[in-house]
Amino acid sequence: MAADGEAPDNAAMDNENGNHAPPGPGQAAPVITIDGPSGSGKGTISRLVAERMGWHYLDSGALYRAVGVAAGWGDIDLADPAALVRCTFDTVVEFRDDGGELRVLVNGTDATGELRTETAGAAASAIAAIPEVREALKERQRAFRQAPGLVADGRDMGTVIFPDARAKVFLTASAEERAGRRYKQLSDKGVSVNLSGLLREILARDARDANRAVAPLRPAADAVTVDTTGLGIDEVVGRVLAVVTQAGLVPEQQ
Ligand code: C5P
Repeated sequence: MAADGEAPDNAAMDNENGNHAPPGPGQAAPVITIDGPSGSGKGTISRLVAERMGWHYLDSGALYRAVGVAAGWGDIDLADPAALVRCTFDTVVEFRDDGGELRVLVNGTDATGELRTETAGAAASAIAAIPEVREALKERQRAFRQAPGLVADGRDMGTVIFPDARAKVFLTASAEERAGRRYKQLSDKGVSVNLSGLLREILARDARDANRAVAPLRPAADAVTVDTTGLGIDEVVGRVLAVVTQAGLVPEQQ
């Protein structure tokens, strides 16, 4: 199925090896979507898959987080949807590759660190439930679809933003494992946290993301689910690349 007004990208011709040829002029660049709940490892895995493919990468959650951060800077009430919609339109988000590290500028200020805080995540999740905000961010996300291809990570990449993606993956892990990973991440940074508090937050965020009326978190009908519980990063990347290869896409680096 093609996204609103967009040409389907699965029209690429098969070559003699059964692999798909790169998109020709006028064809949309191919997309791999990687969706899943918070802490499923989407960010790390998607970046590595994008690297292996030699493709662009979209961290869609960073856009929602950026609006959350800008709302905080502007003292905007998270219970005021009209003000949050205005804030979405007013917020300029830029992604910069700083020697292999992705930096995010919000209205010209480097907010990379602030974006990753629990406060920004909670604000993003509240803001993401507003349909007009999602609509306002739709085209901004689709603009990342550029040759040679895009790996997009989020919650609704395969269902709403890129329904015509060539390969769709849904990453999961048990809530306990996701809380444990977040605990380790924060402890490694010297932040003191409480594991059961993190688990409660993760379950609350999952419920909010899965139960919202617009673009709820769920796998696309044609997505392949990869459960990452107990798996290491390399193993997960390997499984995602297997899905990608099965879809006829060829990693640049083996
Ligand atoms: O992926 P990340 O944890 O950075 O996303 C932050 C929040 O933004 C999520 O909890 C979710 O509510 C929202 N989000 C979304 N749709 C996306 C990406 C993120 O609703 N495509």
